[in-house]
Amino acid sequence: MDRLLVGGGRRLQGAVRIMGAKNSALKLMAASLLAEGRTEIENVPRIVDCFTMAEVLQHLGAEVAWDDSTLTIDTAGARGIETPYELVRKMRASIVVLGPLLARFGRAKVAMPGGCNIGSRKIDLHLKGFERMGVRFSYEHGYLEGVAPNLHGAFVSLDFPSVGATENVLMAAVGASGTTVIENAAREPEIQDLAQMLVEMGAKIEGAGTTSIEIEGTSSFQAVCHRVVPDRIEAGTFAIAACITGGELFLEDARADHLDLVLDKLGEAGAVIRVEERGLSVAMAERPLSVDLVTLPYPGFPTDLQPQMMALMAIARGTSIITENVFESRFMFVDELNRMGADIRTEGHHAVIRGVDQLSAAPVRALDIRAGAAMVIAGLAADGVTEISNIYHVDRGYEGFDGRLAALGADIRREPSLWPALA
Ligand code: UD1
Repeated sequence: MDRLLVGGGRRLQGAVRIMGAKNSALKLMAASLLAEGRTEIENVPRIVDCFTMAEVLQHLGAEVAWDDSTLTIDTAGARGIETPYELVRKMRASIVVLGPLLARFGRAKVAMPGGCNIGSRKIDLHLKGFERMGVRFSYEHGYLEGVAPNLHGAFVSLDFPSVGATENVLMAAVGASGTTVIENAAREPEIQDLAQMLVEMGAKIEGAGTTSIEIEGTSSFQAVCHRVVPDRIEAGTFAIAACITGGELFLEDARADHLDLVLDKLGEAGAVIRVEERGLSVAMAERPLSVDLVTLPYPGFPTDLQPQMMALMAIARGTSIITENVFESRFMFVDELNRMGADIRTEGHHAVIRGVDQLSAAPVRALDIRAGAAMVIAGLAADGVTEISNIYHVDRGYEGFDGRLAALGADIRREPSLWPALA
């Protein structure tokens, strides 16, 4: 297993192209199962999570081929309905194949998920939604099996606007008989991207991107060519990296309209942001100012940028409070930041961050995708060389993160772990 060595103190400068959104690409890949034929998805990030989803599709019988960042999925031979534990364990999002499989075959079997280390992540809302649509579930030997001889439309009101539940129910509903209404639906741009591809495939969907989505089921879908929306979380991560180094970056293809609150918060912290036709630029000349923030479902501040923002606030002038409302234990990485000299105290879902003048490099671990990115960001501003282990988490979500940062002037390199048995 590799580790990253990050030398602090270099300003980031230059332009970086933002890749397609991981959280969209994974669902678009699953949606390809609805049609029989060759789906092309462009702008797919070449990251471990997308490779895992490709393996899931192959396991179900699809043929998957990469050509640079274009993915071709041929589902002509896809007859499988079972997703094994080894794949769901690697990536929890594998469970989004449930919806399309139920719609296409009336049956699906998935192992119960493991996944990111950010608190117990349940799937009860997915299952409640499916049950309303006529699916009966049984659970045996670690596998959940759903059977729906007559998958039908239903009124599905989610207790919480879960991204995964909205997507899973949406992908089942497009192929169910009759009308489905999803109330309290998640509104993330990735859901709008999924709905757009489903509509191109022949689905009838109104209201994606609002809290109420109405779907009229249909029975035939055509394979299409679709381009993945740019990754707002990757854009936010590079923006924060620019800020912590007092640098200036142009984020090509980043969509400011998907980053409203993030750009507001960075602006409050002292960043100068310019929205341009082909992306946006972010610069910060002074030490950041402290800002408070609260994570919420979209359009609130994204939980997936909370750890990176915490790293920035760790060196801010003043004290900030960050409240995490989406996941119950997404502060585990705080101990790692404190090992680098940060002064952060957590109490339940609140973190109080007293900005310090300087972080100090230390050996730390990447605990999940975004916490790993936060460690890299902290390392960029620390005194000395920060050694980050378990970086496979970072590779799950960011394509060539270290190489792209190095091209922007960062002192960062990848080396094999010194202690592979312990990594
Ligand atoms: C997706 C994103 C993830 C992001 C999250 C929130 C993907 C692959 N991942 O994850 O990066 O951090 O949205 O923006 O797209 N919950 C339940 N029951 C359920 C489903 C969810 O209690 O059935 C809870 C979860 O435990 C969590 C909260 O709802 O506390 C949000 O989860 P959800 O929006 O479903 O996130 P994911 O789709 O898993």
